[in-house]
Amino acid sequence: MSLKRNILDLRKRKEKVLQGGGEKAIQKQVAMGKLTARERVTSILDEDSFHEYDLFVEHEARDFGMEKKQLHGDGVIIGTGTIYGEPVCIFAQDFTVAGGSLGLMHARKITKIMDHALKMRVPLIGINDSGGARIQEGVNSLAGYGEIFFRNTLASGVIPQLSVILGPCAGGAVYSPALTDFVFVVENISKMFITGPEVIKTVLGEEISMEELGGARVHSEITGNAHFYAQSEYECFEQIKKLLTFIPWHNGKKAKAFPPKPPKPEYKIEEIVPADPTQPYDIRNVIKAISDDSDFFEIMENFAKNIVIGFGRMNGETVGFVANQPMVLAGVLDCDSSDKAARFIRYCDSFNIPIVTLEDMPGYLPGVDQEHMGVIRHGAKILYAYSEATVPKITVIIRKAYGGGYIAMNSRHMKADFMFAWPTAEIAVMGPEGAANIIFRKEIMNAEDPEAMRKEKVAEYKEKFANPYVAAAKGYIDTVIEPEETRNMLLHSIEVSNNKVDRRPEKKHGIPPF
Ligand code: HXC
Repeated sequence: MSLKRNILDLRKRKEKVLQGGGEKAIQKQVAMGKLTARERVTSILDEDSFHEYDLFVEHEARDFGMEKKQLHGDGVIIGTGTIYGEPVCIFAQDFTVAGGSLGLMHARKITKIMDHALKMRVPLIGINDSGGARIQEGVNSLAGYGEIFFRNTLASGVIPQLSVILGPCAGGAVYSPALTDFVFVVENISKMFITGPEVIKTVLGEEISMEELGGARVHSEITGNAHFYAQSEYECFEQIKKLLTFIPWHNGKKAKAFPPKPPKPEYKIEEIVPADPTQPYDIRNVIKAISDDSDFFEIMENFAKNIVIGFGRMNGETVGFVANQPMVLAGVLDCDSSDKAARFIRYCDSFNIPIVTLEDMPGYLPGVDQEHMGVIRHGAKILYAYSEATVPKITVIIRKAYGGGYIAMNSRHMKADFMFAWPTAEIAVMGPEGAANIIFRKEIMNAEDPEAMRKEKVAEYKEKFANPYVAAAKGYIDTVIEPEETRNMLLHSIEVSNNKVDRRPEKKHGIPPF
């Protein structure tokens, strides 16, 4: 064959593969409001940057009529490309080919690109749209999943791993996204569950739709499996790209710096926090009042809203914010908010991102429900995560810092590098009301006017402890600052911490209260 004919032959072969599961299957995908796998990849990556590999991979299954089936690319697309000019590895399951089901060769393609990502130290983006283990391939499919999970774990903390759920992600398939750093879901399109509605109906006799069982809202509001929720695939792709502007390409690097910008003038820090400690306010406005350009990229916005986490920039450098949200449950720590914060703290620590903690909370949530849900075990995660973190850690106590919450929220005792408090801070074992009721119980009971005595004792406790100066006198707080000074103090502390060295005892790894 002449070179020209060879080239024509190659083009023909490629064209065939690029048809995926064929026109009918593509139309079905479009009718479901979904983009095709290739459209997704090219929409996320920089224009014309996608380079595809393993186009000509073929499955080797020989049972249940598989020998007669040709599955183009074996139902998954893998390759490399760039986002904002920086390289990434990517795979996208193609639902039009055997429902994107995962057979042996499909899994090998995914693990090949995962190995590349880890070796080349670039982020991995995985787009999931699949009916799960390819039933005809039996244990080979299960083996494939196992190989993926192992690599997810190996890459964890080395390169960023992003999972995008753009279709069904059922059965054991859910565990790859669950092992990755960030999970993206899209309204009406994402469906994640271990056992589907059919199984639930058979085993439990209960009827439930896929949406109610594991739709986008369920995972962003109830289960906490998803970190980002979008209304459309294109909105989701914008979220992916924005996230990538905040994080480093691997754990040996810092995130890319941007030109510094002051916060927007409409966020006036002195006007955000009410003087009355019982009045709620939106902590996100404090974050916006101190971060560059008031740009705060919130993560898990709809889950455990009593704590707020996300990225912003200070002086152009990425910072991870962890902040109690007084607007929801007075900002208490509970099982879910501890899980949410702990995982984020560990992310920042793995990827060289300084952590700024803003504290205003009355402690851990009391109650039988929380105790029985394991608030001891879950609450311990945040202690572990802060103690373990060696990136620069700075805390600002805004109002309440009571009890275990004071310790947990990156206190000096968790080895915060810098501890600041506003003059409105109240640092005590518990709130003045509760404290007075316990330690002055007898005086209150025996008083002629118990209510008046109670008020007097609450005031006495408040006067003595509900301020930042007792902690400052012991050096637990480095300095008490005016709200206006917060941004400058943070900028300076981050700058000073630039070459921080914090060595810990050598060990294989710790045993966090997972
Ligand atoms: C082989 C599959 C498949 C699978 C779908 N297909 N899932 N082929 N193995 N797991 C095929 C269908 O046969 C069909 O082929 C095509 O993909 C499209 O599927 P439809 O059912 O027509 O699509 P839709 O109506 O949109 O329904 C999507 C679905 C459904 C809800 C995902 O296909 C489904 O329930 N699939 C099975 C899900 C499941 O139970 N998977 C196994 C989980 S166990 P044709 O040729 O007709 O177009 C598991 C264990 C892993 O994953 C454990 C790892 C630790």
